Amino acid sequence: MLNKIGVIGGGYIGGVLVQEIVQRRLAREVGLSDPAPFPNPADPPDRQAVTKKQSVSIGKGLDMSEGLPEIRRDARIVASKDHSCLAGAELVINTAGVPRKARPDGTYPSREELLAINLKVTNEVATGIKEHCPNATIISIANPLDAIVYTLHKRLGPPKNKLMGMAGVLDSGRYCYFVAEAAKVSVENVNAIVLGGHGDDMVPVRSSCQIAGVPVEKFLDQETLKKIEERTRKAGGEVVGLLGFGSAFVSPAWAALEMAEAIIFDKRKILPVCAYLDGEYGVKGLFVGVPAILGKNGIEKIVELDLTSAEKDALAKSVAGVRKTCDEADGMLKKL
Ligand code: LAC
Repeated sequence: MLNKIGVIGGGYIGGVLVQEIVQRRLAREVGLSDPAPFPNPADPPDRQAVTKKQSVSIGKGLDMSEGLPEIRRDARIVASKDHSCLAGAELVINTAGVPRKARPDGTYPSREELLAINLKVTNEVATGIKEHCPNATIISIANPLDAIVYTLHKRLGPPKNKLMGMAGVLDSGRYCYFVAEAAKVSVENVNAIVLGGHGDDMVPVRSSCQIAGVPVEKFLDQETLKKIEERTRKAGGEVVGLLGFGSAFVSPAWAALEMAEAIIFDKRKILPVCAYLDGEYGVKGLFVGVPAILGKNGIEKIVELDLTSAEKDALAKSVAGVRKTCDEADGMLKKL
């Protein structure tokens, strides 16, 4: 158990995170920060004054605190509109940013299209972390995932083992779920890794996919696997299209918590995480999804897989996409 975990962003993912942190007894105290709601400058002053007093994080924090007796938990939930409630957090999970949302015609933006707006939010998040919990290990979930983690690195420069993004656990979970469903076996039997950026070019690694230790190809034919891998790449968008109001929030929160638990309990668990690469997989200076051992120091070690040549090519394509978005982020950051 940690003394304190900070959750940045009181939206859907942030809400599930705080609930689960308390339920799972991961920390004695949880801090939840979110500046929303923002007063609308077009509103009359008295309406703006009312909005200024409202707070999604303080409201959610109080709601959950008032339910603690029912679930028999003594956790302390602190919340604020600024980032002061993060003070002293040893681990911070960043969810702050605008999610993808379906348009009226049913289409939806790519994660990369969120860059401009979420970069500004990330800039403020970085300032908050620097001020209130500069030594915290950081797990970031906001999109576009890889470029936001890169931005936190640029703004905060923490040791490379203490900053990571959550995407691979979610993407691999989706891959495993679709395989388990098609093979009609328990999700507990399926193991797989998705590498690369958290975009539509992500790389489900078929050579790492096993059911009860047996290669997945023994259970499912090539055509079914191809369809599953395609669905995995687009799975985030599938949920956005269905929900209408935003993007997936329960599975991303659970995925980040699997990473958090590996760190808190020093499990040394191998999970795919968005990590800083310094030559591993032939990549330097970017954050990309790769398997890593997670333990008390955060990223203890990056694990290099023997990929097939098709998988290597697919990873190179995905990394090129990440590089492009990070270059754009660099340009935008100069103007902030
Ligand atoms: C997803 C978002 C959270 O993949 O990136 O659902």
